[in-house]
Amino acid sequence: MSYIIIAPPVPTQKWKEELEIIAPEIPLIIGPETDHPEEVICAMVWKQERGILNRFENLKLIFSMGAGVDHVLADDTIPKHIPICRVVDPQMAFSMSNFILMAVLNHNRSFYDFQQAREKSHWAQFEFEERSLKIGVLGTGFLGMDIAKKLHALGFSVSGYSNSHKDTPFPSYAGDQIDTFLSKINVLICLVPYTPKTQGLLNYNLFKKFSEPTYLINVSRGSVHVEKDILTALDEGILSGAFLDVFEHEPLPSNSPLWKHPLVQITPHIASLTYPKESVLQMMDCLEKIEKDLPLTQEVSREKMY
Ligand code: GLV
Repeated sequence: MSYIIIAPPVPTQKWKEELEIIAPEIPLIIGPETDHPEEVICAMVWKQERGILNRFENLKLIFSMGAGVDHVLADDTIPKHIPICRVVDPQMAFSMSNFILMAVLNHNRSFYDFQQAREKSHWAQFEFEERSLKIGVLGTGFLGMDIAKKLHALGFSVSGYSNSHKDTPFPSYAGDQIDTFLSKINVLICLVPYTPKTQGLLNYNLFKKFSEPTYLINVSRGSVHVEKDILTALDEGILSGAFLDVFEHEPLPSNSPLWKHPLVQITPHIASLTYPKESVLQMMDCLEKIEKDLPLTQEVSREKMY
C-alpha cells in the first residue's frame, strides 16, 4: 500500500515531511509516476491532470490539499465511488479570517487614503473618516461563518447569506432573499465555493442591486466574479473599491487593468493558508474512517461541489 501526492503547481515538501512523521511505514510517491499504481490507496491532489487518477485501481480516498474542491472536480473522469474529502481546518479559518479582517479594517479606517497622503508627505489628520460599514458575508459555510461571527463580535453590523437558512447571532438571508441581502450592505465579502451556479455570480447585474456604493472583497475563486464588470462598476461608483485575492486567470496577467486601478488592492491568492500538519492528520482520519466504514464528515458532495 502507498500514498501519492499529485499537485503539479504547489510545493509538496512540507506534506512529505509531515507524512514521514505520521506514517513513516507507508511509501509516499510524489508526482503521478509509479511502477505499482495498484498499491496506491490515497491520493492527495491539487489541480491534478484530467484522467490521471484512473490508473490507481485500488484508490480509496481522494484528498483535496485545500478547502476548495473545484480543482479536483474539474476532472469528470474520476470514478463516482471514490470519496473526495477536503481540509476543514480551524487554523485555515483563522488565517482566512485574519486576512479578511485586514481588508475590512484597511477600508474602515481609510488606510489607502492615508497611504496616498503619505506619498505626498501630507499630514491628513482630519481628512478621512472611519467609514460606517454594513458588512455582508456571501457564503456562510465553514470559513464564511468564522469571519461573520468574528466581525459581529467586534461590533460591526453583519449579515450573512447562504443557500440554506442558518441560525446566527446576526441577520441571515437565504435562497431567494439575495436581493434583500444585497440592498442592506456596503461591504460584500465573497466566500462561496466555485460551482456552475456561482460562476460569474459577481457581475454587473448583481452589483446594480446594491443600494449604496459597496466595497468588494473576493477571497473565494476568480471564476465567481467578472473582472470587466468589476471595472465598470468601479468606474460608475457602484463599487467603492475592491480587495481581490483571486482572479479569472491566475497568475493575474501583467496587462490586466486591475493591477493599476487606484481603487483595487491585489494579493496573489494567499488569503487562506493550508497547514500541512493538520491537513495530513485529517487525511489519515478520513482513511481510518473509510477502513472502519464510519461516516466521513469531510466528504464533498459531488452534486453541490462543496
Ligand atoms: C485555496 O484556495 C483553497 O481552496 O484552499
